Amino acid sequence: MYSDMVMDHFKNPRNVGSLTDADGIGTEGNPVCGDIMKIYIKVQGNRITDVKFQTFGCGAAIATSSMVTEMVKGKTLEEAMVISNKAVAEALGGLPATKMHCSNLAADALHRAIEDYQAKQKVA
Ligand code: FES
Repeated sequence: MYSDMVMDHFKNPRNVGSLTDADGIGTEGNPVCGDIMKIYIKVQGNRITDVKFQTFGCGAAIATSSMVTEMVKGKTLEEAMVISNKAVAEALGGLPATKMHCSNLAADALHRAIEDYQAKQKVA
């Protein structure tokens, strides 16, 4: 039911944890299941230089978050902002239809983190 790539990221998730000196933090809740995702980003010169995630989500949420952190490292904020949940699911070799809603958490929390960073720049 799950691809090998999903199982790999579920069993060995990349970039788990938090960043105490994060430049942006995004939190997203999943209206379907009530699970929560938090993504921390570090930004330098308009590029994401580090990223971590914490989730109270299912295996698919863990795998998609792990994948999204790998996908955005080194990307510009604009490039990261257009990464969709579909793109993350595709990079994992697909997700079962009933688990597609889980991938929203990762992409949306990432976008919230970028917005948080941008809002802080305007205030500063
Ligand atoms: Fe909640 Fe997957 S069931 S994120």
